[in-house]
Amino acid sequence: MVGAKILILPGDGIGSEIMAEAVALLEALRAAGDLDVELETAAIGGAAIDATGQPLPEATLALAREADAILLGAVGGPRWDKIERDLRPERGLLRLRSALGVFANLRPAVMYPQLVSASSLKPDVVSGLDVLIVRELTGGIYFGQPRGIRTRAGTNEREGFNTLVYSESEIERICRVGFDLARKRGRRLCSVDKANVLETSELWREVAERVSADYADVELSHMYVDNAAMQLVRSPKQFDVMVTTNMFGDILSDLASMLTGSIGMLPSASMDAAGKGLYEPIHGAAPDIAGKGVANPLATILSAAMLLRYTLGRGELADRIEAAVGRVLDQGLRTADIQSPGTRVVGTREMGQAVIDAL
Ligand code: IPM
Ligand code: MG
Repeated sequence: MVGAKILILPGDGIGSEIMAEAVALLEALRAAGDLDVELETAAIGGAAIDATGQPLPEATLALAREADAILLGAVGGPRWDKIERDLRPERGLLRLRSALGVFANLRPAVMYPQLVSASSLKPDVVSGLDVLIVRELTGGIYFGQPRGIRTRAGTNEREGFNTLVYSESEIERICRVGFDLARKRGRRLCSVDKANVLETSELWREVAERVSADYADVELSHMYVDNAAMQLVRSPKQFDVMVTTNMFGDILSDLASMLTGSIGMLPSASMDAAGKGLYEPIHGAAPDIAGKGVANPLATILSAAMLLRYTLGRGELADRIEAAVGRVLDQGLRTADIQSPGTRVVGTREMGQAVIDAL
């Protein structure tokens, strides 16, 4: 793709610090003549609320629609916690995902061999781990209507309510993404649900089975979400690709990230049917360490690599970035979240620069 437009949305908290490193890397590739992209920056989340009163301003959404791909830092923070729910930073991100139709969220949890000792699990349980969580991102309980807080009829007690709905077509398209990806990897797909309790899961299972008829070369299994959480900690290498709902995927991907040493390492890609994507680290805005220059920029840098691979078709550049991250870890450089005895702890800026140098 020539002159691709990338929209940069730093967001809140550590967002601007980690994004600065990913942008520096993209600009270094551009300066070297390896990459032809135009970068534009806009506001989302709390930063956008402060500037415009809206977590997803119309101008940002318009730029996002025009862009070929979007790279996002993180949104949210205690400063905006008291705001009415529909105007909170997180709502801006959810609206962006929904408006762009990026229903397929790919969250790879890959263990870098250099970080095995940073994991809280035993080395033999996690070394060589490579699992891909495919999370449905624009449906389910995150977007169900009606929702709200109301007074329970006949009482003066309040009750909160949310609605969980999945249509067959929503289930089918995310399952197909899971099968297609499994086909390119270990050819095993585990569909995670709660079919022993939920009707949406019963339908999910039925649709997954139906779709599997088109993928005779992929082995489909089913697992209840509680068991899947347990199995991810007990023996995570049994999994190849997991496909699941919006909320189960949110929870399981945080869990899986920690197997790899730190949530600060995990990138994600969210794609629409045409492959246009929104790329973001899976971690949040980490207000506790924001502004200190200590956040790990690698998840954002690796998200930029996913962007190059999936939206711009530049797999070879993505490989180079991922290899550069590996070399930096080989050098013993670590941000605080992935430190272990014998390594050198560096800040956000130094880590970002080290990756550029290794490139
Ligand atoms: C994530 C985050 C978001 C989500 C929040 C910030 C709305 O936790 O991307 O995993 O729940 O999807
Ligand atoms: Mg999450």
